[in-house]
Amino acid sequence: MSLDVQKQAVGEAAAAMVEDGMCVGLGTGSTAAFFVKALGARVAAGLKIRCVSTSVATAELAASLGMTLLDLNDAGRIDLCVDGADEIGPGLALIKGGGAALLREKLVWEASDRCVTIADHTKVVKALGAFALPIEVVAFGHKTTANRIADVLAEFDIGMAPRLRVKDGQPVLTDGGNVIYDVACGVIAEPSALAAALKATTGVVEHGLFLDLAEEALVATLDGVERHYP
Ligand code: 5RP
Repeated sequence: MSLDVQKQAVGEAAAAMVEDGMCVGLGTGSTAAFFVKALGARVAAGLKIRCVSTSVATAELAASLGMTLLDLNDAGRIDLCVDGADEIGPGLALIKGGGAALLREKLVWEASDRCVTIADHTKVVKALGAFALPIEVVAFGHKTTANRIADVLAEFDIGMAPRLRVKDGQPVLTDGGNVIYDVACGVIAEPSALAAALKATTGVVEHGLFLDLAEEALVATLDGVERHYP
C-alpha cells in the first residue's frame, strides 16, 4: 500500500469524525489535503460546517471544494482541528512545520477544543529530532536571530547550525512573510525546555514543537488506521 493510499485512509477517517454544525480547523500538507478533500465531499453531500484554514494553500483548496471559510478572528472556538505532522513522538509530542505553516497551524490548534493529527506510520518516532525542527523567524535581521538560536541550541548540546530554508535560490517566506530556519537536532532530549528557550529568543516567531496539544493521532499502517493517545 503506497504512502498516498495510507494518507488518504487517515484523511477519510478524520473526515468521518466531523459532525453537522461544527467549526473545523483545516491543517496544511499532503495528508491534511486528503482530509480536506474527504470533508469537501461530505460538504457537497449536505454536511453543514464552517472552517478555519491554517494556510493560504489549504484555504484555496477548501474554497475550490465549496467549503465555508471563516477568519480565525470571527470563528470563536473551533470544535475540531485536523492536521498532519512531521514527527509523532511519545505522548503525542509533535514536530510540525515541514510545510512552513507552523505559526498559523499553532494559532488554529490553540483555538481548538480538540486537535487530532493524521499521518502515515513513517512519522511515528521513539524520540523527536530526526526531522529537522522548523523555526519561524522575523525576516528583518534574521541572520542575527539565527546566531542567537545557535547559542540557545548549544545550551541543549545541539551543535548543528540553523539552516535557512531556501527554494529556487530564495528564502522561503511563510504566509505571514517570515523566514524559516531548520535545525537538524538529532535527538531532542528536553522538548519542553527547548520550546520555552526558543520562544524566549527575540526574533523567533514560533517553533515547530507542538507539545501537549494533540489529543489523538490517527496513524495509517499497512493493516489499517490505528488510534494513538497521549
Ligand atoms: C505544515 C505541516 C504539515 O502538517 C507537515 O509538514 C506534514 O505534511 P505532510 O502531510 O505533507 O507530510 O506541519 O506546516
